[in-house]
Amino acid sequence: MEIEKYLKELQKTEDLLSLTNEELSRFAKKTDEFLSFIGEIVEPLKNYDKFIREFLRLGLSVEAAMLYREQARVYREKNDEQKYLRNLYRYYETLLMTLYIPPVYEDLMEKARTYENTSMGPLFYYLVGFTQHFHLFEYERAYDTYLYALNLLDKVNERVFNKYKLIKYRDFKLLLLSNMVDTLLRALFKEGKNTEYISYINSHLNELRKVEKDKLFFTFNEIEFNLCNQNINKAANLLMEIDDKIIHDRSKRHMLPILYRTWALFSWQRGDTKGTVGYFKRALKEAIHLGDELRQKEIIDTIVLVLAMDTPHINILSQEGKELLLYLLSTLLSKDWYLGDDHSKKVAEYSRKVAKAYAMLGGKEINPNKIYLAGLLHDTGKLYIPWYILNKPTKPMDLEWESIKYHPTYGAVIVKNIGIPTFARYVEEHHERIDGSGYPYGIKDPHIISQIIGIVDDFAAATALTRKYQKPLSKEEAIRELEKQKGIKFHPKVVEALKMAVL
Ligand SMILES: [Fe+2]
Ligand SMILES: [Fe+2]
Repeated sequence: MEIEKYLKELQKTEDLLSLTNEELSRFAKKTDEFLSFIGEIVEPLKNYDKFIREFLRLGLSVEAAMLYREQARVYREKNDEQKYLRNLYRYYETLLMTLYIPPVYEDLMEKARTYENTSMGPLFYYLVGFTQHFHLFEYERAYDTYLYALNLLDKVNERVFNKYKLIKYRDFKLLLLSNMVDTLLRALFKEGKNTEYISYINSHLNELRKVEKDKLFFTFNEIEFNLCNQNINKAANLLMEIDDKIIHDRSKRHMLPILYRTWALFSWQRGDTKGTVGYFKRALKEAIHLGDELRQKEIIDTIVLVLAMDTPHINILSQEGKELLLYLLSTLLSKDWYLGDDHSKKVAEYSRKVAKAYAMLGGKEINPNKIYLAGLLHDTGKLYIPWYILNKPTKPMDLEWESIKYHPTYGAVIVKNIGIPTFARYVEEHHERIDGSGYPYGIKDPHIISQIIGIVDDFAAATALTRKYQKPLSKEEAIRELEKQKGIKFHPKVVEALKMAVL
């Protein structure tokens, strides 16, 4: 394998989406070759940081992570523990800062326990907390993990810690503290007033104020805290001040999503429903524009929380609640454009028809409105999957596939949170198959609504004009393909109902 030549090619490639299909498959082949090459190296790859930079620039973060992992393996074989751990950390970080991949997370927890009493202990635990915080939305648990990392950090020698050149001791401490405040604020938001949390936030904010000169760093935390405590005036003053600083400074553009998110919360606290919806939309739009996946997730989670709070202002049944939900669905549309326009709507409509046919064939009666809404919502979990994974022009790698497979679970969480928990099961099981070959659980008795949505989903994907990797099939061809799974992956009556409904 000619490494230098491949590197030059990477550097020449401006953007994967602009490549022709032929160029793309050549690129994918070369990259595969390169990855299997580094899977076998015994000496550290000298210019690996250059490769990593190019991979990240092209949105290939899993490929970059692979490189870190192999580099770690080589150093481990050479008994260079410091470089081994440094690259291992980078591997987990590169993956988990953007993607939730369950087996990687489990792996990381094990490593955190193994290296608990080394300088790397606090860092590994930080990533565990980060995953609980930003991917699993388990705020109390994330807080405990961060606190654990902070206690471990106190026992670590500052100079030794800094030698790893991952993050400076002092900066790391600040990061932990501000993330801790963030988890508590979200827990407060979710669970309502809690005096214990409030006093913790107070003391962490005091610590932050002592060490951090740049106030912008945690002003948003301060504003939210004041909102929680009904100090509306104080929150308003801080918000106005920071708004001025960010709006007029192009270098602070990356803060616009969080600024608008905070304005949305402020408007919501004051009962201004129009303002809330408007600011949430702006926040999400800006985060998508910036390609900030993590922020998008945070904003969507806040919207879901607001929808879940059964306030008289905004809930799933109100005008504004519906507007927000529709906005989320339209975001999903643009995110999943490979499946063709209006995939969710198509699945909803066909599912309703198939349900009717299913009853005519002697199957159970299914409420048409119910299955229609379930169809609309079936892929909402994809809102939490990064755009560049859903739209990767080449085939997803195994680890990326693992993260995509989590979307039914995410979808169930969203549906539960917005106040329609009965729909969670339909969403969660739409990729399960009756022979147990589906995901995420491999169960053999998915709900009939999920079964219908599942077959319609496959049918819609196979016939979509923008289909990924392959040419679209005609309706007849798609049915022929699905019929091969009759009695295997799909219940025979479900296949018959599909045929009756679409041909
Ligand atoms: Fe799906
Ligand atoms: Fe789908």
